[in-house]
Parts: sequence; structure tokens; C-alpha cells
Amino acid sequence: MIDAIGIAGAGRVAQAMGRLLLERGFPVNCIASRDPEQAFAAATFIGGGVHAVDYSEIARHARRILIAVPDSAVADVSNLIADAGIRGGIALHTCGTQGPDALRSLMDHGVSCGTIHPLQTIVNAKQGVGALRGCAFAVDGDGPAIRWAEEIAAKFEGEVLRIPQHLRPLYHAGAVMASNYLVGLVGAAQHLMEMAGVGRNGSLRALAPLLRTTLENILKQGPLAALTGPIERGDVETVAAHLRALSNAPEQIQHLYRAAGLEVLQMALARGLAASPATSIERELRGN
Ligand SMILES: NC(=O)c1ccc[n+]([C@@H]2O[C@H](COP(=O)([O-])OP(=O)(O)OC[C@H]3O[C@@H](n4cnc5c(N)ncnc54)[C@H](OP(=O)(O)O)[C@@H]3O)[C@@H](O)[C@H]2O)c1
Repeated sequence: MIDAIGIAGAGRVAQAMGRLLLERGFPVNCIASRDPEQAFAAATFIGGGVHAVDYSEIARHARRILIAVPDSAVADVSNLIADAGIRGGIALHTCGTQGPDALRSLMDHGVSCGTIHPLQTIVNAKQGVGALRGCAFAVDGDGPAIRWAEEIAAKFEGEVLRIPQHLRPLYHAGAVMASNYLVGLVGAAQHLMEMAGVGRNGSLRALAPLLRTTLENILKQGPLAALTGPIERGDVETVAAHLRALSNAPEQIQHLYRAAGLEVLQMALARGLAASPATSIERELRGN
């Protein structure tokens, strides 16, 4: 008999993981939230007769618990579950930065604890169900927790990453740069397009082929081979013209251009950019 699964949290990741677990044959039994209506809506989304409960009831219904609440609430929710009375079983959380220690109160009750962080962006539950298939999962924890996390990753056709606990913040900073900061860069690019007279919707449409081709090149050939543009060519004057024009743009976009440019400059050097234009570009980007 396979242990029943309870999900703590009823947001995007909780619902998407819950639906996919059920689809892949895992016995999802219940889902909990502070808000009974949200728990009910999440249970309905997952389907399969999953019960809506509150956090204090989970351990009565399930021996395996998946905790998908905001990072700042992981320890509090694990305290709630522990205080309600739990003995043994397995608990995993989905936070990227924290390790199994965030579930300390459950460990103290004999629960095997670990993490399963999907290296994916989930903007809503429905999109998440598709996006979780085949993504990478950072797993950690003690024996039974790791085995369950790896079983889930395998059933989701995903890759397993083993990140030591002290390196998880670095791993997660990388994930944030690849996703959230990419969103920030595109938002800033749209802002500059608008300043140049291209409408908001028109700017995204116009940027779309450039964005797609850039991502395809990065994924096919790696970032170094995908690099083009004025810094890679050593066009100092073009960079200087950008910076003069950017003096009218919001300050954070100017900082972004300069900081991202310095990273691109390192890549251009690795690609063989000569020292002389590199030094001039660096001086422009640093503003000295
Ligand atoms: N979204 C992503 O792209 C993504 C990707 C990978 C990993 N993750 C991780 O997955 C976890 C959940 O993220 P999410 O995007 O699914 O969040 P979310 O959509 O905001 O959902 C969070 C859930 O936690 C509950 N909650 C909120 N504050 C709480 C509190 N103080 N105490 C107890 N419960 C609380 C909320 O329900 P109630 O308020 O009704 O209780 C809600 O159901 C996070 O650790 C996040 O780092 C997210």
C-alpha cells in the first residue's frame, strides 16, 4: 500500500504538482490552505476526489507531505503540521534557497525531510502542469526523502540535480537570473522601444523574433557562441551613443545596461575581443 500524499499550500506550484502527481499515479489525498475556499478550489483543480483540509489536519490524512508555500512561510507551516501531531512519514518542500533544515520541527517528530525544487517558472496552475514535465528538480534530504523526491522527478520525466545545502542560494540566484531577470531585461527593452516611439504591444511583437532566435542560439550553441552586437564587435562609439541616449531613461535601466554590459564584455573577451576596444568599452560602461 503506497502512503497517501497531502499537499500544504494551495497556490500555483501546489496545484500544478498535485495534478501532475495524481496524473502520474501518486495517491494524492488532500490539499491544505489557510483559506477553506482556496483549498476547495485547489482540490477541484487537482481532481480525483482530493479533500480540502487545513494545515493542522494534513498529518491525519497523509504520510507523505509536499509543502509548497512562500519561502518565508515554510518553517511556520512545518511548525503547524508538527504541532498538530505527526509521527514519521516524509515531507518535502519546494523552495529553491532553503534546504531540508527549514523543516526542522518535522524532523524533530521523526519525519524524513527533504526538498524538491522545480527549476521552472509557474505563472498559474494550468501552465505549471505542462511546464513541470521534463524540467530539472533540485533534490536534497535524508534517505527516504531523497528517494521520494527522485521518484517524483523520474515520474515527471525530469532531471535530478543534487545541490549541497550551503550552495542552494547560489543555485537559486542562477535560476532567478535565468527567469525573473530575463523578464526584467525584456521589460526594460520594451521601455526603451516605447521611448523610441514604438507602441507597447508593437514593441513586444517586434522584439519577438529577436528574442526567440537569441534563446534558440543560446540553447543550441551556448551563450558564448550566441553573442553578437556592439560589445562583441568592439564598437566603442555605438556603446557610447547608447549611454548618451540612456541618460533620459529611468535610472535603474541605465544601471541594468551598464551591469549587463560588463558581463557581456567578459564574454566578448573570452571570444577574442582585443584589449584596446575592451578597455574603452569598460571605461564607458563604468562611466569613467
Ligand atoms: N511559482 C514558481 O515559478 C515557482 C517555481 C519553483 C519553486 N517555487 C516555490 O514554490 C513555493 C510556492 O510558490 P508559489 O509560486 O506556488 O506560491 P503561491 O502561488 O503564492 O502560493 C502560495 C500558497 O501558500 C499559502 N500561503 C501564503 N502565505 C502563507 C503563510 N504565511 N502561511 C501559510 N500559507 C501561506 C497560500 O495559501 P493561503 O494564503 O490560502 O494559505 C498559497 O496557497 C515557494 O517556495 C516557491 O519558492 C515557485
